[in-house]
Amino acid sequence: MHIYNIYGGRRLRGELYIQGSKNAVIPLIAAALLNKDVTIIDNCPQISDVYRMTDVLTRIGCIVHREEGAIVIDASQIHSNMIYGQCARSVRGSVLYMGALLARCGYAVMDFPGGCHIGKRPVDYHIDALRKMGADISIEENRIVCKSRGLKGCVIRLPFPSVGATENIILAGMGACGITVIENAAREPEITELCRMLSKMGARIDGAGTQTIRISGRIVPREVRYSVMSDRIAAGTYACAAAVTGGDIYCLINRNDAMTGIVDIFRSMGLNIDYGNDYIRVSAHRRIKALSYVRTEPYPGFPTDMQSQLMSVLSVADGNSVIEENIFENRFHIVDELLKMGADIHTENGRAYIKGVPALSGSELYAKDLRGGAALIIAGLSSEGRTVVYDPGYIDRGYENIAHNINMLGGNIHLAQTE
Ligand code: EPU
Repeated sequence: MHIYNIYGGRRLRGELYIQGSKNAVIPLIAAALLNKDVTIIDNCPQISDVYRMTDVLTRIGCIVHREEGAIVIDASQIHSNMIYGQCARSVRGSVLYMGALLARCGYAVMDFPGGCHIGKRPVDYHIDALRKMGADISIEENRIVCKSRGLKGCVIRLPFPSVGATENIILAGMGACGITVIENAAREPEITELCRMLSKMGARIDGAGTQTIRISGRIVPREVRYSVMSDRIAAGTYACAAAVTGGDIYCLINRNDAMTGIVDIFRSMGLNIDYGNDYIRVSAHRRIKALSYVRTEPYPGFPTDMQSQLMSVLSVADGNSVIEENIFENRFHIVDELLKMGADIHTENGRAYIKGVPALSGSELYAKDLRGGAALIIAGLSSEGRTVVYDPGYIDRGYENIAHNINMLGGNIHLAQTE
C-alpha cells in the first residue's frame, strides 16, 4: 500500500510551473472523439484521470499516444460505441462520451460514470437534455442506452448550471441539425476552453463563458492542435500550501482570468497576491486571517474544488470561520481527519464552523477524494511532526507530481510503500 509521508513546518518558496487543467482536458479528450482526424492536446497533465479517459478511447478503436507534454488522439476510426468497464466507471468525465457518441454515430451504451465520492452526482440533467434533443435514452441492466436517428437543435434550460451537462450538450450539439441553445449554462473557464477547441475544429459557438451558449455549426474533420489552460485548482492548491507555511511562491500559469473567485478569497485572508498575465505570486507574511463566511458557488464564485484546501488553511487561521458547501453534499469528508490533527471544526446543515488553532499536529490520515486528499497534504505541511496520508491514489487522479513539486519548493513529502 502506498502512503505519503509528510514532515511539516517548512516554508514553501520558489517558482512552480502549473500543470494543464484536469477539468479542461477531460472534455477536450471527449471532443477529440468528434474529430475523425488527429487531435493533439498540448500541456496535457499526466494524471490518472486522463489515462482513464484515454483508455476508454483506445477500447473503442481510437489510437492514442503520448508525446512530451502532449496527448495525440486519432479518432478517424472507431469500432464500438460501448463505454463501459472499469475505466469508464471510475471517472466522471466518461459521461461526456454520451453526447460525443450520439453526435458522431447516434448510438451509445454507457456504464454510469464514477469519480470521487463527494455526493450523489446524478446524470439526470444530461439525460433530460439529450432526450430533448431527440435521443431515445433508456436504462437497461444498469447501463444507459442512447439512440438517435438524428439530434435536433432546441432550447435547453438547465435547472442548475452543471459543468458536465453543459459540456455534454455542447458535444451533442456538434451533431445536431439546427441551433442548440443552452440557458443557465455553466460559465466555468473549462467550458470556454472546450468551445475554443471545438471552434478550432470549425464549430460555431457563441456565448461561451456566459449563461447562454448558442451552438450553430458543426465541426469539420481536420488535424487540430490545442494547448490546454493551466489548472486553476492546482494553482490554488499550491497557494494554500504556501499560505499555511508562511511561504512565497510564484506560479506560472497561462490564463489569469480563470483565477477569479479564488484570488478575492485569498486576499481576504491577508495573503499578498501579485497577479500578471502569466503568473500569480502568493506570499504569506503573517498568520492567515479567518473568513467570517465563505460559500461555494458555480463560477465565478468560490469553487467547490477549493473548499477542502481552504478548510485546511482556515483550521490554523486567526479567528473563527464559516464555510458553506453548496455544490456537493459530501465534501466535508476531511473534517474527521483534521480533527485527528487537533483542528476545532464542527459541521451542521452544510456549513463547517472552524475555530482556528495555532497549529495542527501530525497524524495518520485517510484521503477519501481528490481535493480532500490534497487538503490533507496542506494540513500535513502546516503541522508539527510527521503526517501520513493513506490512499494517495485519489490525489494522483488530478495532481501531476505533487510530491516532487512540493519538495522543489522546499517541503518534505515522500511517497512510500507499507505492507
Ligand atoms: N447535478 C445534478 N444532475 C446532473 C448533473 C449535476 O443534480 O445531471 C448536480 C450535482 O450533483 C452537483 C451540481 O449539480 O450538486 C453540480 O455538478 P456539475 O455537473 O457541475 O459537476 P460535474 O460536471 O460532475 C465538474 C468537475 C468537478 C467540479 C464540478 C463543479 C469535471 C470532470 N469535474 O463536475 O471537479 O467539482 O464540475 O465545479 O469537470 C474535481 O476536480 O475535484 C471535481 C470533482
